[in-house]
Amino acid sequence: MKANKLLIIDFGSQYTQLIARRVRELGVFSLVISIDDFLNYKKVDEIFGIILSGGPDSVYKSKDYLVIKSLLKLNLPVLGICYGMHILIKALGGRVEKANYREYGRTDIKFEKNSILFKNINLKNRSINVWMSHGDSVTKIPQGVNVIASNKSTPVIAFSFKKNIFGLQFHPEVTHTNQGKKIIHNYLFEVCKTRKLWTIRKIERNLINDIKNTVGNKKVILGLSGGVDSSVSAVLIHKAIGSQLKCVFVDTGLIRINEKEDVKNLFVKNLNIKVDFVNAKNKFYGKLSNVTEPEMKRKIIGKCFVEVFEDYVKKHDDYHFLAQGTIYPDIIESAVNSKSKTIKSHHNVGGLPKKINFHLLEPIKLLFKDEVRKLGINLNIPRSLIDRHPFPGPGLGVRIIGAINKSRVSMLQKADHIFISELNKYNLYNSVSQAFCVLLPIKTVGVMGDKRTYENVICLRSVNTIDFMTAKVSRFKFEFLELVANKIVNEVKGVNRVTYDITSKPPSTIEWE
Ligand code: XMP
Repeated sequence: MKANKLLIIDFGSQYTQLIARRVRELGVFSLVISIDDFLNYKKVDEIFGIILSGGPDSVYKSKDYLVIKSLLKLNLPVLGICYGMHILIKALGGRVEKANYREYGRTDIKFEKNSILFKNINLKNRSINVWMSHGDSVTKIPQGVNVIASNKSTPVIAFSFKKNIFGLQFHPEVTHTNQGKKIIHNYLFEVCKTRKLWTIRKIERNLINDIKNTVGNKKVILGLSGGVDSSVSAVLIHKAIGSQLKCVFVDTGLIRINEKEDVKNLFVKNLNIKVDFVNAKNKFYGKLSNVTEPEMKRKIIGKCFVEVFEDYVKKHDDYHFLAQGTIYPDIIESAVNSKSKTIKSHHNVGGLPKKINFHLLEPIKLLFKDEVRKLGINLNIPRSLIDRHPFPGPGLGVRIIGAINKSRVSMLQKADHIFISELNKYNLYNSVSQAFCVLLPIKTVGVMGDKRTYENVICLRSVNTIDFMTAKVSRFKFEFLELVANKIVNEVKGVNRVTYDITSKPPSTIEWE
């Protein structure tokens, strides 16, 4: 088999996902794996190159370089970034120590020699501006290593060894690095000499074949949520195996207004895909009635989901697979990589109980969101659905801070509907990445029609982001926010105050829980 994959070994950098994205954007398939998984990786003949990510560790405190020593024996092109560069240096016999100068943020670097890695880079005085984030530096250069970039405080900022081993102290994957994508481009197409093989048509064809091969003549059940990921999965699986797929929409009681009707219109009426609707509101409300801790909510919601499915299956046909719209960032963000810290467990992955009576079918689990959207368009799914903001698996459960009950859900649903409708009305919906309301667990004093009120607070949240890993507040006109706030307070019984969350991610997250 021809080598067609780039492997990214993750040492816990906050930027690892970005490396994978950049590589995919350049039309090349990449997989992120931990160093432990790499040790057991069996399909080495499918790899044409390796990138070693950055990470929080220091090379002088870790034994990772021993693995890199054996990795180098594979004779594959390797690019080490930040910590990845340090372990390469150590594996090649050099030394890395705590730096006198720590460098964080933008820095100018100077090219020392022409290198294929920097081909076609536009230089100003042989320099470019790059993004640095390091506290360690190379202090002994191994034999045979060429320094190809440096600056005053860091003598080794980029190196080459033989024809196909490279190291970069800076991060080419972040947009702050001037022409960083070109450097990754050069590594892929000039050093690894791979080709652009990762196109949406090929992805669709491969996924459909994979689904057919995996499923055979068995039956598949899929939980449809009305979101992009589960919808694209459903249409894809339906295209592969037709009526062997059964879609089930579970009304958890934690969904948005009109969600059920929208799903009915699109799937049943437009796409001719059968959907069963299950009302499980009471079960979810019952199990969540006194639960306030966010991770506990996620676990309970995940568990209830599976129980509803298992119940459904017992009463219906013999289903072998449970299909889910898990996508790649879910897996990377939930990855139990000993080196990176899990911030939130993801419902699709982390929330599932260990023992379930289904085999999982997750056809789009290796795709990023933009790839899922392109696939959806290729599958003729309407733009209105493709462009929908993401909605978390646990639904409104993680937007009602504190305890969940029917009346609080209803309050939040109404407020959220107003916010989203106004965004659509003023043509703002597609200019923001994700917008929603949060119901807070406090009451405040207000005055309405000369009467004192003591009621609930809704917080509006809207962010702009490219990858949902970092995000900034959406800068609406003040008049728009005022209008939404007035409408909510006037129309939603039980709410007497509206606020706008202006924090970015980090330090906050997009959801409140
Ligand atoms: P945070 O809040 O982590 O959110 O900044 C990033 C993106 O992930 C979504 N999100 C979730 N999606 N299950 C999901 O399916 C979850 O438990 C979950 N938590 C957050 C969030 O809506 C945003 O798009």
